[in-house]
This record gives sequence, C-alpha cells and structure tokens, in this order.
Amino acid sequence: MGQRLPLFLDLRDRRVVVVGAGAVAARRTARLRSAGAYVVVVASSVLAAIEADEIHERAFTPADLDGAWLALACTDVAEVNAAVAEAARERRVWCVRADDATASDTWLPAAAVVDEVVVAVSAGGDPGRAIALRDAIARDLRDGTLHARRTRLAAGGRVVLVGGGPGDPGLLTLRGYRELLSADVVVVDRLAPTVLLDELDEDIEVVDVGKDPRGAAASQDAINALLVERAQAGKVVVRLKGGDPFVLGRGSEEVAACLAAGVRVDVVPGVTSATAAATLAGVPLTERGTAQEFTVASGHVPPGDPRSTVDWRRLGATDSTLVLLMAVANLRAIATALVEAGRDASTPAAIVANASMPDQRVVRTTLQSLAGDAEREKIEPPAVVIIGAVAES
Ligand SMILES: C[S@@+](CC[C@H](N)C(=O)[O-])C[C@H]1O[C@@H](n2cnc3c(N)ncnc32)[C@H](O)[C@@H]1O
Repeated sequence: MGQRLPLFLDLRDRRVVVVGAGAVAARRTARLRSAGAYVVVVASSVLAAIEADEIHERAFTPADLDGAWLALACTDVAEVNAAVAEAARERRVWCVRADDATASDTWLPAAAVVDEVVVAVSAGGDPGRAIALRDAIARDLRDGTLHARRTRLAAGGRVVLVGGGPGDPGLLTLRGYRELLSADVVVVDRLAPTVLLDELDEDIEVVDVGKDPRGAAASQDAINALLVERAQAGKVVVRLKGGDPFVLGRGSEEVAACLAAGVRVDVVPGVTSATAAATLAGVPLTERGTAQEFTVASGHVPPGDPRSTVDWRRLGATDSTLVLLMAVANLRAIATALVEAGRDASTPAAIVANASMPDQRVVRTTLQSLAGDAEREKIEPPAVVIIGAVAES
C-alpha cells in the first residue's frame, strides 16, 4: 500500500462531491458539512436521511466532479465507485472509496476532537481497529490520562474560571480537570478540590487566595489584578473555585475584570454545593407532591442587615425548599425571621457540613432547633442548610 501522508484539509466553502446516498454517505456528508464544506450529493436513489447543499437524484457522470476539491465514492456498487475514482484521477481530484481501501487514493481517518486536539487514526485500512484506537485515545485525552501541556504561550494569555465542585476531586468536570492540567498558573480557593494541586507539574505556579471565613484572605481586587497580570504576561491562568463559579462565588466580577483589561476569559461550570450537598445527604431538593421549587440564598449577613438583599419575609411565607449557603453564623436570626414570616417552626431541616469530603456530616433537625443543634454539634463552615418538607428524615 506504500506510505501515505496524513493531512488536515481546510474544506470550508469548497465543493466536495459525495456519490451515493446510503448510511455511509449520510455519515460522511455530516462530517464534511461540520467541516464547512459545500457538499453535493449525487445518487440514483436517496436511501438515507441526508442533508447537503445540493442533492441530485440521478446516475453519476464524470462531469459531476468538475470544480470539486474532493470526491467520496460511497455507493454499494463497486463499478460505480471505480468510475468515480477514475473520473477523479483524470481531474486530479482526491477521491475516497468507501468500499475498497486498497483501491482508494485517499483514506478518511477515524477522527475525534477533544478541546483543540484533533485525533485522526488510520490502521492499515482496518476501519474497526482505527475506530477502537480513536476511541481509546479520545477517552484518555478526555479524562486527562493522556496529557501534554501547551508549549506555546497564547497571545495575551487567558483566564479560565473553573468550577471545582464541592471538594471531592471526583466531582470536578472532565473539562475542568483538563484545563487544570494545562495551566501555567493556578489561583485557588479554600473550598476548591485542592488535593488535585499535588498532582500538578512542579513548574505550575500555584497561588492560594483561600478565603478562610474567620481569617485574612486576598481581597477580590487583589485576585482580579493577579488574574489579569498573569494573563497579560502570556500565561494560561486557571482560577480554580469551589462549586460553580457563578453561584455566590463572585465569578462574574472576575470575568468583568478580565474583560475590562482586554483579557480573554472562559468559564467552566462546576457542581455547586447548593445542590450537591443535598444530594450527597440523600435530600431531594424537589420531590413530586412535596416540593416543586427550591431557592438558594446566602446567609452571610443576618436578616435586617443593610447589606442583605434577601427577602426573608417572602422566603418565610412559602413552603418551598430553601437552601442556605454561608449561613452557619446566622442560623438563629435566620430561623427566627422565617418563623416570624409564617414558616412552621416544625419544618424539617438538614445541615450538611463538608459535603463530599471524607469528614462530611449531616445533622437532621427542624427549623426551631436548627441553631441550637448546629451549636451542639459544633457545625463549622462550610455547610449547606436545607429547610423544607424534603429534609424529613
Ligand atoms: C462563597 S460560597 C461559594 C459557593 C460555591 N460557588 C458553590 O457553588 O458551591 C461558600 C459556601 O458554599 C458552601 N459550600 C461550599 N463547599 C461546601 C461543602 N463541601 N460542603 C458544604 N458546604 C459547602 C458553604 O455554604 C460555604 O459557606
């Protein structure tokens, strides 16, 4: 078969002729169209659902290849495929024959895309083996098993906000993990899955801006400035945050700071503790017949505090599920406000501390006993509090 040269073709707006309209032609037409090609299908009968820029339901003629950049012979009649290959050769158009690898001048590799990496595999004309290898490589790239850092600094660098989930590294998304492995700089929060940092390459700079609720931490302005400064130095900066970056996480402020400085910024969503803590504790936030809605609110300042924009009166007046973050220090004031606003004092409640971590703890209680039980059980942040009938043990 001789040596073959792998190539990546830019087919955007280029005419590609597919002869045949069965299942193989339909799959290949879809691939060509996603590569931006102008696809012309010629087939004596159109068997499969096929989408193309032009469909001609008639027999192939050599002139169909005039002006084409590429031809694909995908009929189940060897003579027709051979005629397409012959007409293509006469016109110096590359032709892929689906029926006979040895007679085909061009092979279409089994391909997959993971982020900006394109995997294209050819296995000596054995398509089944090529597909199996492609799948294995793509799987290993997706889960980070197969990994190589970028060797060129991106022009101007960039920032990626990665939602790290509630703390268990297993709850970080695959995309978030790949971004982490590709970072030059990681700027990390206290509640992010910090255990993963030990596995990073030694030359990755790790900056801990962890906000201990009782201790000093980097100010948001200092964090924003750090992200911008490192990205402007051409670095890929991963901002690894707890939960989801946009749920009570000030992620939008970091995005705004990057954009204001002209720095490219992407956001990878994360598993928020607001839902994960409940699920890990076996509390369904919604349940047929019990609760059809849930509200997530911050309890970092008590009801009545001028900094609070939470409408505790409205939250106390409903029976729906209430999920509180950052509320440990203010549980007594919050419970009082909810009961005053009409919520039944015997409403079930659950406190989930250190959700997803080896020291996860769940305390089942009621609204009226919430603060006392949290004190007695020495609950410390981070904890999520769920109030509502769904928290019934
Ligand atoms: C500043 S907020 C960040 C929330 C985060 N963006 C998210 O989506 O989970 C911090 C609060 O999230 C909650 N939290 C985060 N991780 C937690 C965990 N592993 N267990 C319980 N609560 C957690 C606690 O209420 C904590 O005070």
